[in-house]
Amino acid sequence: MDYKRLLVTSALPYANGAIHFGHLAGAYLPADMYVRYQRLRGTDVIYICGSDEHGVSILISSQKEGVAPQEIIDRYHGQNKRAFDRVGISFDNYSRTSLPVHHETAREWFEDFKNKGILTQSTEKQLFDPEAGMFLPDRFVIGTCPHCGYDRAYGDQCENCSKYYDQTELLNPKSLLSEAKPVVKDAQHWHFPLGEFQKKLEEYVESHAGDWKDNVLQQVRSWLKTGLTDRPISRDLNWGVKVPGEEDLGKVLYVWFEAVLGYISSTKEWAAEKGEPELWKDYWCGEDTRYLAFIGKDNIVFHCLMFPAMLMGKGGYVLPDNVPANEFLNLEGKKFSKSQGWSIELDEFLDSYPADPLRYTLAMNMPETRDSDFYWKDFQARNNNELADILGNFVNRAAHFLEKHFDGIVPEPGELSDDDRAFLNGFNTTAAEVADFYERFRFRDAVVATMNLARAANKYFNDREPWKTVKADPQVCASTLFCSIQAIYALSIFIEPVLPFTADKLRKQLNLGNEHPLTWDAPAVHRIPAGHKLGEKALLFEKIEDKIIEAEMAKLQQPEESSTAEASYPPLKDEITIDDVMKLDLRIGTVIEAENVPKSKKLIKLIVDIGSETRQIVAGIASAYEAADLVGKQIAIVANLKAAKLFGIESQGMLLAASNEEEGPMIMIPQGAISNGAIVK
Ligand code: 2FM
Ligand code: ZN
Repeated sequence: MDYKRLLVTSALPYANGAIHFGHLAGAYLPADMYVRYQRLRGTDVIYICGSDEHGVSILISSQKEGVAPQEIIDRYHGQNKRAFDRVGISFDNYSRTSLPVHHETAREWFEDFKNKGILTQSTEKQLFDPEAGMFLPDRFVIGTCPHCGYDRAYGDQCENCSKYYDQTELLNPKSLLSEAKPVVKDAQHWHFPLGEFQKKLEEYVESHAGDWKDNVLQQVRSWLKTGLTDRPISRDLNWGVKVPGEEDLGKVLYVWFEAVLGYISSTKEWAAEKGEPELWKDYWCGEDTRYLAFIGKDNIVFHCLMFPAMLMGKGGYVLPDNVPANEFLNLEGKKFSKSQGWSIELDEFLDSYPADPLRYTLAMNMPETRDSDFYWKDFQARNNNELADILGNFVNRAAHFLEKHFDGIVPEPGELSDDDRAFLNGFNTTAAEVADFYERFRFRDAVVATMNLARAANKYFNDREPWKTVKADPQVCASTLFCSIQAIYALSIFIEPVLPFTADKLRKQLNLGNEHPLTWDAPAVHRIPAGHKLGEKALLFEKIEDKIIEAEMAKLQQPEESSTAEASYPPLKDEITIDDVMKLDLRIGTVIEAENVPKSKKLIKLIVDIGSETRQIVAGIASAYEAADLVGKQIAIVANLKAAKLFGIESQGMLLAASNEEEGPMIMIPQGAISNGAIVK
């Protein structure tokens, strides 16, 4: 696709808590790697973000701590901005939605919609707390989810089944302000007619059927299939952007309506700070802009439907060309949970460890197509066995050898052998391969391909045995070192998106100036010439000892519930023999269709391809999975179970899943792709 400039945003994090690894791996690291790569390509790109400082989540934090909301947002805005900076997230602007520029922008958009007659106003039923004397925002009421029966569901969305509903649909509602049972009362609100944009949104989404990620398309299509309805965009709250004309009525704009506009106001702030206050328009309104919105999967609907509809309604704005949403990152097999001590704060982590090994570990475990995990031991292994032993080791050996035998000066090469030339040509292959992965948002593959160059460089150094040729054939030795230094140069460029701090160290170590620009194509066109003196050697990666990692793991608190959950498991069953096990025919299959069983809260009907045939399987997993999210997933099933009927529907087998009273069901998914029909044993 041809475009002149690139606009990249990452979801604005709420300023009511410290960002953790999950956030980083979901929406910030991939965007940062992408933007860094594009800058190396010379693309005109800006990377925009900021703190989301309104909404009920901020109010809840302020209420919990007994401090003003302003104090909460000031604290976390500062803390998160600093943490992003320390981990090398290279925003061009990191703004705040509490700034006047944002309030003005959001109010202007509201007024524009109102003046054009796009908005509707209606009176609706809302829960009112008779003791607190106020309407209850969604997050101030809990009750039983009307879809899955989860009994601590909030007023807008169930954390268990992710379904959205109206707060008056909650069963047994309770006010979190006073514990009182709320009553239903009439309240007047503004609505954005999302339903009217259904057709245009369908066309928009389908025009991206070939380039959006499957997880995004599936979720959005399932929303469109259900049918879009009007969304209320005002709330009864005293914290947020005041609804124009209703300043004294205690009404503010719904946080999601204005937060997405934060991308635009942050760009306005960036332009003003550059001294070109109109420049933001080039990025948001220029037809030759490509806009990419990086987010986590929980934000898909707002970025793929609501925000595009708003942009369409306003007119003259670019729509997201791609929304590369990631799945979630967990910590050691469990969801991040600060309150349960199952979390690692970025800022604290960076007090003990450098940023690059973390960036590398998160990139290698990026939840691109499915949820993934951060494991401390994996972090240690990636740092010690990959960064230190492969990348660090190569650079160190080559630089050390150069210093010892050539006074740190790049030698004039002898005639290059076929191996030397193949090695140098390999840089171009790496450049093309890695670039292609970045262009397709395949970050893990990009990093693997980058590290493969470091692997190849180690092999080259070993195979050429400069410690032998230094005496036996100095010309050959000079060529080996010449080529090895070029490899360090190439690596210093290609690693930059994922390891920017290490790239910087390499550049210093190589003692490079402006004649060696930091551009993606540089290794193909610029050689470090013979006679160039290298700078001081840098220690690139320090190994992390076992005892450090063990101490970190011990710091993670086991949530209390899990010990009770363990205690409540039934005793182990009687021993069986291998013959008993062999009676089970367990197979791998791919879910090709999935839909909720009508009138059942628990059951999902799956069509599973098990290689030799397809099976219809009914599974009780609807409390934990969206049907649409299951399509494409590989699962394990009991293939020789006698068919049975569930809710009147035949189930030809059983899906394997783990669960207990509090957690799950969690379906068993193979760690990597394997062909359908493969036997599980
Ligand atoms: O989920 C969140 O953390 C939201 N604060 C994301 C907002 S993204 C955009 F709308 F600004
Ligand atoms: Zn639910």
